Amino acid sequence: MDTILVMDFGGQYCHLIARRIRDLGVYSEILPYNVSLEKIKAINPKGIILSGGPNSVYEKGSPQLTEEFYKYVSDEDIPILGICYGHHLIVHQLNGKVESKEHKEYGQTDLIIIEDKGLLEGFNKKETVWMSHGDQVKQLPAGFNVLAKTATCPIAAYINNQKNIFGVQFHPEVVHTPKGNIILKNFVSKYAKANKEWKFEDWIEQTIMGIKERVGTNNRVILGLSGGVDSSVAAALIHRAIGDRLHSIFVNNGMLRKNEANQVQKTFKDKLRYRSFHYVDAEELFLNKLKDIEDPEEKRRIIGHTFIDVFEKKTIELEKEYPDIKFLAQGTIYPDRVETSATSNASAKIKSHHNLTLPDNMSLEVLEPLKDLYKDEVRKIGVKLGLPNEIINRHPFPGPGLAVRIIGSIDKEKLNILRDADEILIEEIRKAGVYESLWQAFCVFLPLKTVGIMGDYRTYEYICAIRAVESLDAMTANFAKLDMDLLERIGTRIINEVKGINRVVYDISNKPPSTIEYE
Ligand code: XMP
Repeated sequence: MDTILVMDFGGQYCHLIARRIRDLGVYSEILPYNVSLEKIKAINPKGIILSGGPNSVYEKGSPQLTEEFYKYVSDEDIPILGICYGHHLIVHQLNGKVESKEHKEYGQTDLIIIEDKGLLEGFNKKETVWMSHGDQVKQLPAGFNVLAKTATCPIAAYINNQKNIFGVQFHPEVVHTPKGNIILKNFVSKYAKANKEWKFEDWIEQTIMGIKERVGTNNRVILGLSGGVDSSVAAALIHRAIGDRLHSIFVNNGMLRKNEANQVQKTFKDKLRYRSFHYVDAEELFLNKLKDIEDPEEKRRIIGHTFIDVFEKKTIELEKEYPDIKFLAQGTIYPDRVETSATSNASAKIKSHHNLTLPDNMSLEVLEPLKDLYKDEVRKIGVKLGLPNEIINRHPFPGPGLAVRIIGSIDKEKLNILRDADEILIEEIRKAGVYESLWQAFCVFLPLKTVGIMGDYRTYEYICAIRAVESLDAMTANFAKLDMDLLERIGTRIINEVKGINRVVYDISNKPPSTIEYE
């Protein structure tokens, strides 16, 4: 298949480049910058993109390409596009000059186009682009021409016509460069002449083949299945590959939404007929461990550790019956990997904890078929694999579940109140047709009692907060400006139908500075 190779120099947007190319219908693969030439030759790329990266090319030890690499691409006439660090590297290694600038350009800036044909065809004379590096090209090597500049960067894009080598100082792959896709498209279609041969169906087929090969004909795989989209799609792929040698473990931690445990079982056991679906009811264990615990981090810690304990115990039990369990599968997606070290997102921690804490003698190999994909790509694959809509389009739900939506200590009574309120909220949001336009909508239990009146009686009950947000990636979020009549319907129903709540409030905070979840 025609492939565009992205060489990774450590840039934070490297995966996004590959993703954008895939969006153009062309297959793209990422390899580290120092991959062997043999491997590159085996891929036989139609074009190569050098990613950005945090280094400066003139620093000692900064990542560089070999002479053989340049010879190979020149001999084979393979077009190259350098982005940011890649843009500097080409110049630096082909005898031009790169320097650190006093006036560094970060953020959006105006790009002034000098040559609007070829790579920049489709650009107006002035376009907004996203800059994120302190270095810039001072002098181009022989045979190179300037394509565009900014107020403080005289060589913001270049071309070597003869060799089809290009560089851009800015990031065409990010949304902050609104017309960035045009550059990638021009590179891929005009210069690399790569055919649009990539389809999700191919990816699915290849991945299933890959899983089959890796797992072999006898080995088995275990997977923690939460019923969320990522673990469900991972399960569906693996199940296609090895059938019931996939053992899915679903842990009911007592912090699930109303009927959730039943629904997940129904979907996977009854509808999809996963015969190795293992339901573990650990509700009482979790509730006991969480009794009287008020601190949010402590709650998260207990839930994380207890989950791992329960999961391990079940795995050991299964291992006795099926000694061929050799793999631990996870629904890790690309943003999880980015966030693992960068944020305190407990989901990422929980996922990595599985690998870290499983007993040594178990030594399971990790299988993460979705690790290079973004959420919306995972959803598309889920649709193609025939997963039901209620799984594909489900709002994200945190690992610690309702525990982080009850402020302070947790007990069954509070959980049930919250479950009832949440069910009404989701029902009304769905009825109003806005469920899929929201990133998340949920109720929060505030352990504060206020006075109300119902009929002739004074009430003294808890508060329910409604949180509904719009977001693209959960890194930032805005509270949803829900229709007032809808909010009124939700509030009225919750107060009338849920015993224990006499007041409903709507959360109007954005992230940042607030977070989406409450704890
Ligand atoms: P915050 O509250 O940090 O949430 O704005 C951002 C997104 O992450 C989800 N979230 C979690 N997901 N385990 C998860 O799997 C967790 O511990 C966790 N905490 C927050 C949250 O629902 C939102 O979508």
